[in-house]
Amino acid sequence: MIPTGLAVGLSSLLLCSGTASALVWNTFDGPGSPACHNVSRVHNATSVEDMQSVVKSAIQSKSLVRAAGKGHMWYDTQCSDDSTIIIRTANVAGIYDFSLPEGAPHGSVLVDAGVTFFQLAEYLHDRGASVGYTLTNWNISFGGSVAMGAHRSSIREDSMVAAGVLAMDIIDGKGEIRKVKRNESDDDWLAASTSLGLLGIIARIKLKIYPDSKVYAKQNTFDEKEILEGDIYGMIAPYATANLWWWPYKRKFHQRYYDVVPANFTEQQGFQNTFSVTDLEAFAAKNLLNSGKYLPTSNMLMEAIFFGQWEKPNFREKTTNKAIDKWPVYGWNYDVLIGGLYPDQKAQWDYGLRAYTLELAFPVTMANAVLKRARGLFDEELKRGIIMTSTYRSGINIKFGRHYFDFLGQQTYNTSDGVDWSKGTIMFDFPSYRPSVGDEKRFNEPFYRKVANALIDEFPCRPHWTKNTREAFARSKKHLDPNYLARFKAVRQKFDPNGIYRNVIGEILEMY
Ligand SMILES: Cc1cc2nc3c(=O)[nH]c(=O)nc-3n(C[C@H](O)[C@H](O)[C@H](O)COP(=O)(O)OP(=O)(O)OC[C@H]3O[C@@H](n4cnc5c(N)ncnc54)[C@H](O)[C@@H]3O)c2cc1C
Ligand SMILES: *[C@@H]1O[C@H](CO)[C@@H](O)[C@H](O)[C@H]1NC(C)=O
Ligand SMILES: *[C@@H]1O[C@H](CO)[C@@H](O)[C@H](O)[C@H]1NC(C)=O
Ligand SMILES: *[C@@H]1O[C@H](CO)[C@@H](O)[C@H](O)[C@H]1NC(C)=O
Ligand SMILES: *[C@@H]1O[C@H](CO)[C@@H](O)[C@H](O)[C@H]1NC(C)=O
Ligand SMILES: *[C@@H]1O[C@H](CO)[C@@H](O)[C@H](O)[C@H]1NC(C)=O
Ligand SMILES: *[C@@H]1O[C@H](CO)[C@@H](O)[C@H](O)[C@H]1NC(C)=O
Repeated sequence: MIPTGLAVGLSSLLLCSGTASALVWNTFDGPGSPACHNVSRVHNATSVEDMQSVVKSAIQSKSLVRAAGKGHMWYDTQCSDDSTIIIRTANVAGIYDFSLPEGAPHGSVLVDAGVTFFQLAEYLHDRGASVGYTLTNWNISFGGSVAMGAHRSSIREDSMVAAGVLAMDIIDGKGEIRKVKRNESDDDWLAASTSLGLLGIIARIKLKIYPDSKVYAKQNTFDEKEILEGDIYGMIAPYATANLWWWPYKRKFHQRYYDVVPANFTEQQGFQNTFSVTDLEAFAAKNLLNSGKYLPTSNMLMEAIFFGQWEKPNFREKTTNKAIDKWPVYGWNYDVLIGGLYPDQKAQWDYGLRAYTLELAFPVTMANAVLKRARGLFDEELKRGIIMTSTYRSGINIKFGRHYFDFLGQQTYNTSDGVDWSKGTIMFDFPSYRPSVGDEKRFNEPFYRKVANALIDEFPCRPHWTKNTREAFARSKKHLDPNYLARFKAVRQKFDPNGIYRNVIGEILEMY
């Protein structure tokens, strides 16, 4: 089995022999899931200065350079197809300059590029602090998540990781450090806030932190029509963080929401698991899902099983490791909002349960119309006698974003399309099982492209920068504000005049 993160380098494949050999750099899914097709070498950086010296030598050899965090991206869009040096940040992971004075509402901490959410959460919890809601799931680096505009789900609170950034140090196209501070009147900041790694390697990040808190998690189940016809904004906006999960075959939704409780309100220490499974579950799911490549009845059964499992809290009591079976669940901020792996289980991809995805953000003012259109696409298949389902453990993930101003973020507003993005966004994140048999295409594969194309062409939208194919980026470019793209490009040219950090997304956005 190919584990995540660390093994991505190991699983590289030698493509050609002779003088110029190229390695394939894989995502966390391992061989068969390329992130970069043409890597000349991988450097395990040991410090910020070490990264700078590798960049300077790359300039000499006229090579392209890209940073690599934990490989938690989905498609071959990390690099360009030209020869690239990868600088791995996992071992550049210092945490320092912690400051949260007694009684202060917030403070700050500095992290190096490779620090993960897990690592920082543990460090902060030990010191009575947290990063609040500017989180992403799982074993993901701060450098990688800030670069790519990653986010949690909230309308009420800031939940873009970049929204929690106060300042950053970027290694530019000359190998020098540039300091960029949060400042909405500064184009350098507005570009750096969601940079796609095109300005350079994010080396250090100063983050806003808060006193640690306890939170609750609650979940409700709805019939589909209650959501499609309902006040979606009103079901999300009141809470610190909230999202929907859609079960299109069952025609149900789950609504999950979280908020703060006083620290002395409960002794419970709930710990969430989003991705871990037992050997038996993994074996059964893989067999059923692989047969679902050919037999829709397997997918229908699987969605019913996943839905049934998702009804119950996916939490354990941290102190005893016993399952928690009643909502609401209480516990410390990070444990409840994210959690991690149960000690006796492994992540689903460690069993070879892999997935494709698509994630697009739409104005939340169009939430009902977007979901109804998606329902219509499922129904069109039904009319042809083809039953489509969700084939992912948590269904179709419907997330939300508070408006947040920068050039390339999914949550930006004040755009020339005249659309009101200021109320926030709804994200349609549609993961689906990737069969490990045959051609690895999904049951009724053309459906997935039909959904992507219809949603992209019919609604204003922005892609998540690591959860879409090259084709989806090219197709959705028409929705980006040309003025913001031009201002981004001007900053890109200043930071990286020779384009050494170029990648396929930058090429699609005509940044070169
Ligand atoms: C299981 C799983 C759960 C996820 N959950 C969420 C979620 O909750 N919300 C969300 O928004 N996204 C989520 N994602 C997507 C994830 O946040 C992004 O793909 C993120 O960019 C991955 O970061 P990484 O550290 O793994 O970086 P990598 O995958 O190694 O790199 C991603 C990109 O960032 C660039 N990069 C990495 N480090 C730096 C740096 N220091 N400076 C400049 N560029 C850099 C790389 O060159 C590459 O283009 C999830 C992905 C997976 C697989
Ligand atoms: C996170 O990644 C590291 C190294 O890549 C790995 O050792 C660790 O087990 C991972 N943690 C989880 C919970 O997957
Ligand atoms: C980088 O470190 C990883 C994990 O320790 C290791 O597997 C890999 O072989 C190293 N790569 C190089 C080029 O040293
Ligand atoms: C890698 O990129 C170089 C140009 O930088 C090109 O000449 C070569 O053909 C590419 N190799 C592969 C395998 O794509
Ligand atoms: C913010 O950026 C603008 C434009 O570059 C600059 O004039 C201003 O001084 C900056 N503000 C701060 C507080 O640095
Ligand atoms: C919790 O603490 C607050 C303030 O310190 C106090 O007013 C309240 O009575 C406490 N509640 C419980 C259940 O102990
Ligand atoms: C939004 O646009 C208006 C008009 O162009 C401008 O005055 C205002 O500063 C913009 N707001 C932001 C946050 O950029």
